[in-house]
Amino acid sequence: KTWNIAVIPGDGIGPEVIAEGIKVLNRIAELDGSFRFDFTYFPWGCEYYLKHGKMMDDDGLEKLRGFDAIYLGAVGFPGVPDHISLWDLLLKIRKGFEQYVNLRPIKLLAGAPCPLKDVAREQIDMLVIRENTEGEYAGAGDWLFRGKPEEVVLQTGVFSRKGTERIIRYAYETARKTGRSLTSISKGNALNYSMVFWDQIFAEIGREYPDVKTSSYLVDAASMFFVKQPERFEIVVTSNLFGDILTDLGAAIAGGLGLAAGANLNPERIYPSMFEPVHGSAPDIAGKGIANPLAAIWSASQMLEFFGYSEWADRVLQSIEQVMVEGSALTPDMGGASTTQEVGTRVAYQLSEL
Ligand code: NAI
Ligand code: MG
Repeated sequence: KTWNIAVIPGDGIGPEVIAEGIKVLNRIAELDGSFRFDFTYFPWGCEYYLKHGKMMDDDGLEKLRGFDAIYLGAVGFPGVPDHISLWDLLLKIRKGFEQYVNLRPIKLLAGAPCPLKDVAREQIDMLVIRENTEGEYAGAGDWLFRGKPEEVVLQTGVFSRKGTERIIRYAYETARKTGRSLTSISKGNALNYSMVFWDQIFAEIGREYPDVKTSSYLVDAASMFFVKQPERFEIVVTSNLFGDILTDLGAAIAGGLGLAAGANLNPERIYPSMFEPVHGSAPDIAGKGIANPLAAIWSASQMLEFFGYSEWADRVLQSIEQVMVEGSALTPDMGGASTTQEVGTRVAYQLSEL
């Protein structure tokens, strides 16, 4: 079996960390022997924008459509406004391919640094399911009386029944399959249309899943409990904006941005899904060879899981843990002195040692 992967290394540290994820994927294919990966590279991103006036080709989605998955580094660089790099590539792919599930594990692996001193490692083990195509990031709004004293801007959250039901249903299914509890995070007291609707659908669909234990939190209280009592959360479902913010907070308690992975899934598999580290292009450390590749490698593990290779996906995480526990190869953000390449090589090597 050959898996065809479209690779968009992107900007800054994107290409540096993606190279290490590919190193690990190739090592797994070699060890397994029953499948291989074929990688096709797309040079899209901010450098491309500065040359061609666009982040990706006009028929970019058509070009990506036939692949089994997309593996992305990060986009965004000084000189190109962030709303362009985000909207014209990342959000275009997420929306265009109906990748409505953004899966972000917040799990403190063995050996990972954690700033919370009173919390045991096992207490931080959740999976955040973030709505990924609409909500506050629907791009709906208006800019009235631009530059005038009566200037007003509107940024509208869009929550369709279809879009809200499918993400909440996905979350219930995940909770049922894994036997874990499900928490909805919203803000129905202040957002008196969108979040009241969200809460209503959460309750409606819940009636089909009497076996799933549920709870609901307001997003402000949830932020506090992420830090104070993270063990309250197992499977979490939330909107696009809240999920964006909560998962950076989650990254901070579970090893840092250098370790935070994310998958953008089209669960129906009509379109390719996309796997990417949560972090950005980190212009401050780009080109120095010291970016932490573990987030990109963890994202590669999510790709393996999505393809059905759960054992290999687990082994990648075990290799990462082994490397962190030994401290044999860590980048400066984790207190080490190793290069990006050394960490990737070490994790790949560790795969055959387990
Ligand atoms: P960032 O994630 O690029 O960096 C934040 C801080 O974390 C920096 O100090 C950086 O050095 C550090 N950091 C991030 N990843 C790291 C890694 N793997 N190893 C070691 N240190 C790491 O976020 P920032 O600075 O807000 O954004 C920079 C650019 O990236 C912007 O243009 C932004 O729009 C873009 N961005 C792109 C994303 C994407 O493509 N998915 C996501 C977030 C930001
Ligand atoms: Mg973010």
